[in-house]
Amino acid sequence: MARKMTIWSILILGIFLFFLHSHVGSKSALQKAPTFTSSESCKECHEEIHNHWKNAMHSMSIEDPIFKAAYMESYLNTAGEAKFNCMRCHAPVSLINNDYDLKNEITREGVSCDFCHSVKKVNLDNRDNPFELEIGETKRGPLSNVDSPAHKTEPSSLFKSSELCAGCHEYTNDKGVKILGTYSEWKESPYAEEGTHCQNCHMPLIIGKIVKPEIKAIKQKRINLHAISASHSTEQLQKAVKVEIKNIHLEEDVIEVVVGVTNSGSGHFVPTGIPARKLILLVELRTPNEYFSQQRIYQKIMQDESGKEIKKEGTVFLQAAKISFDNRIKPRETRMERFAFAKPRNKKITITARVDYLYRTAILRPTEMRVIMAEDVKMMSK
Ligand code: HEC
Ligand code: HEC
Ligand code: HEC
Ligand code: HEC
Ligand code: HEC
Repeated sequence: MARKMTIWSILILGIFLFFLHSHVGSKSALQKAPTFTSSESCKECHEEIHNHWKNAMHSMSIEDPIFKAAYMESYLNTAGEAKFNCMRCHAPVSLINNDYDLKNEITREGVSCDFCHSVKKVNLDNRDNPFELEIGETKRGPLSNVDSPAHKTEPSSLFKSSELCAGCHEYTNDKGVKILGTYSEWKESPYAEEGTHCQNCHMPLIIGKIVKPEIKAIKQKRINLHAISASHSTEQLQKAVKVEIKNIHLEEDVIEVVVGVTNSGSGHFVPTGIPARKLILLVELRTPNEYFSQQRIYQKIMQDESGKEIKKEGTVFLQAAKISFDNRIKPRETRMERFAFAKPRNKKITITARVDYLYRTAILRPTEMRVIMAEDVKMMSK
């Protein structure tokens, strides 16, 4: 009898546990983490903003061929482990859906509308996942007087602040080496003090419609440019640097040229970001029949544990153990450089100084300056 009781109670307990489990199970299924909405769906109303985003780097953070090549290599070298590192910034939706293999369409959208507009807080102390997100009905943004039929809105000062960008544009790797320092470079610059944030330069206000007019007629005619661009845009680059021939000393056998290179428009070091970027100052001395040139390179150089220079972008994130050299130019800093040329035979001298931005095969010319020195001929004929 007692034994039967126990069997029954075990059975009942079992059934109870079964229901409890399935109940909890179904409840957790209902409470499944809300998923991100595709940028395609935002496009139905925010068409203009979508077009800008679609044609810029954030939407291409996975498709970008330079990234793809670097990623494949890191992936193979680490037996796949690299995915947890790279995807957190290049496909940040993976932070929530764990889709590090990019099986879902939504993860492949890269730095998507809904990712940014779901960020509630950025906590840089949490290095592996600095974003506090609230995904679902509410889209956060810079505006306070808006109303949408499609979703709730919430004004958030984070969208006017560099902190939002810092979650991806600042990174120290496991070996304690700062790979990306764009945010801290800005933070220590006069721009931070003056309240000029990343958005002020990279997302300027332009004429445009926040939503299609058939969705809602809106008085406000300006939107923030979502084609967030930099070195992939020549126009942006040309604002960054100024070069000026400050002085030319003629000596007995030598011509000394003093050139100033100013980081005039960049809110962080120039170049910033991943170390493959270089700035090259080229000073040329020409006469009708002679040519001489000298250059200075501004860059950050990283080494691996064995002291070898790392040349590939992908490798840098995981393997950089030391910054061995860094002479990049700070915001508003003017770097004075002296170049000594042996005096040419011909007296009709032209000196030019220019700065090239070098990134792989893409060479752009931010500034070109020529100083034709008619007077110098006189001075030299003494
Ligand atoms: C990298 C993060 C990021 C991504 C990706 C992004 N936004 Fe934004 N968005 C912002 C920031 C930051 C602002 C506010 C800028 C400011 O006020 O200076 C903003 C502003 C807005 C606004 C308010 C109007 C305006 O222009 O200020 C809307 C609407 C908006 N975004 C929609 C979208 C849509 C739709 C997409 C995708 C097609 C998108 N955003 C992608 C960061 C992002
Ligand atoms: C059915 C149309 C519709 C769709 C779809 C839609 N929105 Fe909106 N959204 C609006 C309207 C309307 C406003 C308010 C505009 C106003 O009043 O100026 C708005 C405002 C916003 C704002 C501004 C919030 C603020 O406080 O600054 C953001 C950000 C935003 N939407 C993001 C998104 C994102 C991200 C998606 C896709 C996941 C999306 N929207 C999909 C219609 C839509
Ligand atoms: C979730 C991560 C993430 C956030 C948040 C983010 N970015 Fe980016 N950003 C990236 C990645 C990844 C790339 C590189 C894409 C590529 O080239 O593969 C990038 C590229 C860029 C570029 C270079 C574009 C070019 O043309 O060279 C600029 C500028 C930029 N981001 C500015 C910003 C600003 C400003 C903000 C804040 C409003 C921001 N980002 C927020 C991840 C992010
Ligand atoms: C005063 C304007 C200004 C501010 C503020 C500013 N930037 Fe830039 N940024 C530029 C200019 C100009 C360039 C192009 C020259 C260069 O590479 O430095 C640039 C380049 C970049 C690049 C591109 C690197 C490349 O070569 O593709 C990234 C990424 C970037 N900025 C992100 C940011 C982030 C993140 C912030 C905020 C922490 C920020 N910027 C603040 C003006 C600014
Ligand atoms: C902390 C965020 C973060 C992590 C982690 C990260 N990236 Fe990036 N990556 C960026 C940002 C932001 C840029 C864009 C501009 C910059 O600052 O140079 C970028 C740019 C790049 C570029 C240059 C793309 C171009 O067209 O200019 C390559 C290549 C790249 N990353 C590869 C990788 C690989 C491979 C990994 C993993 C081993 C990785 N990244 C991990 C944020 C990150």
